[in-house]
Amino acid sequence: MTLRPITLDDVELLVELDRDPEVMRYITGGRPTTREHNEEIVRRHLGSRWIGSDRSTGEFVGWFGIRPTATDEYELGYRLHRSHWGRGLATEGGQLLVDHAFSALGAERVWAATMTVNTASRRVMEKCGLRYLRTFHLEWDEPIEGAEAGDVEYELLRSEWLHRRADGCGREKRRHSRFPDYDALTRYHAGSVVLCDTRCKTEDAR
Ligand SMILES: CC(C)(COP(=O)(O)OP(=O)(O)OC[C@H]1O[C@@H](n2cnc3c(N)ncnc32)[C@H](O)[C@@H]1OP(=O)(O)O)[C@@H](O)C(=O)NCCC(=O)NCCS
Repeated sequence: MTLRPITLDDVELLVELDRDPEVMRYITGGRPTTREHNEEIVRRHLGSRWIGSDRSTGEFVGWFGIRPTATDEYELGYRLHRSHWGRGLATEGGQLLVDHAFSALGAERVWAATMTVNTASRRVMEKCGLRYLRTFHLEWDEPIEGAEAGDVEYELLRSEWLHRRADGCGREKRRHSRFPDYDALTRYHAGSVVLCDTRCKTEDAR
């Protein structure tokens, strides 16, 4: 998969993605979103959201986000087209953005939240190195199926991320695949990911 920064030209891709009730099951209860909504979302997330494409076909896979929510704190998010589920791509993109948040953005904490019943998303969080923090209950005007079980928050602190990167944890990382090998990912993606402003400017200048 390749990642590139989202632009306003991508709005239609997001509208199309949100048309699938299965994709939106744990987000809106299956309801699609409007073009206006997605335009507003893209405007708000320029610089903090990326478009994933299949490396060999160029096909749209989905979006990934790492959004600042407080000083030195970032929220991880992702939504993939159903035809690309189960290929490990959410994990791939998520791990890369977690790494980016700590190594390039100076994050002290990366967090993510989802409905308690969204097992697939919780597993992606775990595979990105985040650990369960809490269950919380929000008031919804129109609760969707599973809302009674609440939402869960996962997090990864900078100290934990550094510890897992440290050489001493190398053996541990290899034994437990749930500890992502961030360095290998960065090497793997080199050349196919445009994550930071410097790279964008460099590419524009070419
Ligand atoms: C959640 C989502 C991003 C997962 O994407 P994906 O690319 O299929 O995930 P991966 O292939 O990286 O799989 C990650 C892990 O989740 C597991 N998983 C995937 N779907 C699952 C499911 N329905 N139930 C249980 N586990 C599941 C995989 O088996 C894998 O774990 P493993 O390696 O231990 O086997 C995708 O289903 C999606 O876009 N859903 C709709 C949008 C959404 O819910 N976004 C999150 C909102 S917070």
